[in-house]
Amino acid sequence: MAHKTEFKRLPTNVVPKHYELMLQPDLKAFTFKGKTIVQIQVKEPTVSITLNALDIKIDESELHYDCTTVKPQRIIYSTENETATLEFENELPANISGVLHMSFTGELNDKMKGFYRSKYFTASGEERYAGVTQFEATDARRCFPCWDEPAIKATFDITLVVPKDRVALSNMPVKKEDALPGELRRVRFDRTPIMSTYLVAVVVGEYDFVEGKSDDGVIVRVFTPVGKREQGQFALDVATKVLPYYKSYFNIAYPLPKMDLIAISDFSAGAMENWGLVTYRETFVLVDPKNTSLMRKQSIALTVGHEIAHQWFGNLVTMEWWTHLWLNEGYASFVEFLCVQHLFPEYDIWTQFVTDMYTRALELDSLKNSHAIEVPVGHPSEIDEIFDEISYNKGASVIRMLHDYIGEDDFRKGMNLYLTKHQYSNTCTEDLWHALQEASSKNVADVMSSWTQFKGFPVISVTSEQKDESQRILRLTQHKFTADGSQADDETLWVVPITVSTSRNPTKIAKTFLLDKSSMEVVLEGVTANDWIKINPGTVGYYRTCYSKEMLEQLLPAVEKMELPPLDRLGLIDDMFAMVQAGQASTAEVLKLVDSYRNETNYTVWTAITNSLTNLHILISHTDLMDHFHRFGRNLYEPVAARLGWEPHDGENHLDTLLRSLVLTRLVSFRSNEIIEGAKQRFRSHVNGTNPLPADLRTACYKAVLQDGDKDIFEEMLGLYRSTDLHEEQDRISRALGCIGDVKLLRRVIDFAMSGEVRAQDSVFVIVAVAINPKGRDMAWEFFKENNKLLLQRYQGGFLLTRLIKYLIENFASEEKALEVEEFFKNNQIPGCERTVSQAVETIRLNAAWLARDRAELSNYLKSQ
Ligand code: BES
Ligand code: ZN
Repeated sequence: MAHKTEFKRLPTNVVPKHYELMLQPDLKAFTFKGKTIVQIQVKEPTVSITLNALDIKIDESELHYDCTTVKPQRIIYSTENETATLEFENELPANISGVLHMSFTGELNDKMKGFYRSKYFTASGEERYAGVTQFEATDARRCFPCWDEPAIKATFDITLVVPKDRVALSNMPVKKEDALPGELRRVRFDRTPIMSTYLVAVVVGEYDFVEGKSDDGVIVRVFTPVGKREQGQFALDVATKVLPYYKSYFNIAYPLPKMDLIAISDFSAGAMENWGLVTYRETFVLVDPKNTSLMRKQSIALTVGHEIAHQWFGNLVTMEWWTHLWLNEGYASFVEFLCVQHLFPEYDIWTQFVTDMYTRALELDSLKNSHAIEVPVGHPSEIDEIFDEISYNKGASVIRMLHDYIGEDDFRKGMNLYLTKHQYSNTCTEDLWHALQEASSKNVADVMSSWTQFKGFPVISVTSEQKDESQRILRLTQHKFTADGSQADDETLWVVPITVSTSRNPTKIAKTFLLDKSSMEVVLEGVTANDWIKINPGTVGYYRTCYSKEMLEQLLPAVEKMELPPLDRLGLIDDMFAMVQAGQASTAEVLKLVDSYRNETNYTVWTAITNSLTNLHILISHTDLMDHFHRFGRNLYEPVAARLGWEPHDGENHLDTLLRSLVLTRLVSFRSNEIIEGAKQRFRSHVNGTNPLPADLRTACYKAVLQDGDKDIFEEMLGLYRSTDLHEEQDRISRALGCIGDVKLLRRVIDFAMSGEVRAQDSVFVIVAVAINPKGRDMAWEFFKENNKLLLQRYQGGFLLTRLIKYLIENFASEEKALEVEEFFKNNQIPGCERTVSQAVETIRLNAAWLARDRAELSNYLKSQ
């Protein structure tokens, strides 16, 4: 959005060194009052002090310095800049220290940001509220007047005044507690280390907890809803084990004496890394052994690993400005996989990295409306928008590529250098390159800057020529990859670390080199005419590969015989689908390729195939080929389902359990009668209590029942929803509702999503579930347009809104719809959603082009099967 005035960071003439912060929430009236006493330094003479404040009122303020006390003549608020300016009568002299007192009041809001209220129920069903904070990126200013920028670090002495029977938590351990009149209690916390405002946190509410201690002496607690303390056990185990692991990995101890994790009933993000007090959505931290799916458990382990990684990367060392957000998020998104690999080797989590993080990054990054990892941002709405797959997934992917390029030892050495050198301070991307460069004596900055400064990525086209019996010449060319297959006008050149493997030893890197020009030739020794050559083994390089016809043909048998390692089978198919979407290969061709994956056993490879087919499924839903496509899908997935069956085998491996859920769910949506019947039966015995379904199979069964369900089934599912108090189960049910076939009932699903029965944090996902059902696509979009105001009011300035918008619109496939969506958002501009809208509109046009291009061929192919 064009802002009226150019965005400016806070003036640096006055800086805070230390805050005393007292907060007193009223959990019944939904207000809070607060007082802060800030030690400041005046660096330059000034008549005013500008700091951040938003939706709070500063009732009283005065400044003490050099034995004088002055009060500002007036306070000017700017809603646009989210600031308050205290104007003094006389100039404050330079180089003084002062103490600024401010009392303020605010609303304990219901927007899940700043200092907000979160609803819960007591055992007897009474509705109550907790007071919770969520400050990242720029919402500390909604709770107390402060210099709310990541580089303006200070120490904090926090005090809470709370009802005497409530749990009160903050970043640090309790220092002292006193009873106050009026059934209140004052809780003072130890001083924090020097830190950024966005990491400050408090929670006031009713919780139970489990407690442990890590081997390196940190007290770890997991706070849960009352009566559910055992659901904190899993996260507690992960957290206590990962602290010493990170300590040895980074060679720096966790600097605080305690680490609390807490499940918050209303929470907009998944989790937040507040130093010493990490807050989570319930579903991102609680494990109920009987009702939590393995997938959820895995993602909880990743989340805990992610947030605890931030305690070093983000909290101890912080980005200088949000432009470098990826240093936080990309890095933590990489390290969470190190954590899970260490704790749960049986998850084979690094393989899953590729479908979870890497391919999703490439998908978004091939759009013209993508952005570079390092992106200029100013106003808060622009900052919100970059918590996206570029900062997270591309960030993590380029770190993984770098890790591979310089090797584990130098990587760790470099990380330690970086963290040690910059602890309690701030950094830019360059600082990370310098540390890794020093550790590895490789030209890290030269190699890496193209990946963080340019948007997009290259596609490497490869041809080969047999020179003599044992020498093969490879010719490689790089171009920017574009989702629409167009030749980019700019000649962006990346510095690409290329690796190659061959059939001589499929798991060994045969050659490594840097491609830093637009094309080059390399010679492979010991490769005969019959050998296949695979570029990018392990799918580590952040690029796609386009093989010559001959090279590809040599690879296919290696897929079928599963000679190629899983990550290579996966990378190959994902690249091929991308080529198809870009119009560089035909859909029928890639479906033939998919056929050679029939014997596939690897869960993650199946995930990759499924993700690609899901895109195609959306396209097909705009044609009359659905039945044919379903048949194609059944043929593809039935053999795997037959191998796995419905019942988990004794001691079966983690990945087969995940694969079973995946495959059964797919077969339900491909309308396999056999699977649907099995699912319905199992659902019945689940509901009547004769044979409860394992959590891993519930989604498949719920969807099977709902898909051709009537009003009674719908009501029955609502009944199930109401009968559980496990958030995960509510999510599972409410999201499954979206696949109901009857259009009238679909409309009721939307109404249900917006009713008081579904929390605002979850409604979005229920509506999305309706939108991704072809029958609900138009309905969900119409609903959005009609209720635009209400939705904005609920979600404005959070990423829940961008998620909603993305899924509501990106599955259309006509120019007409593209224009309609563009027009709508032109007339209803939503700050912080601009890029998301452009990306989704671009996707609509890509869909339309794909459909126009391949429709006839696709029809022939599917009908001939
Ligand atoms: N720092 C973020 C939380 C956050 C996200 C704050 C968006 C403000 C805006 C946190 O570390 C995070 O990345 N959370 C993820 C979950 C994680 C496991 C990837 C989230 O909330 O989705
Ligand atoms: Zn994060």
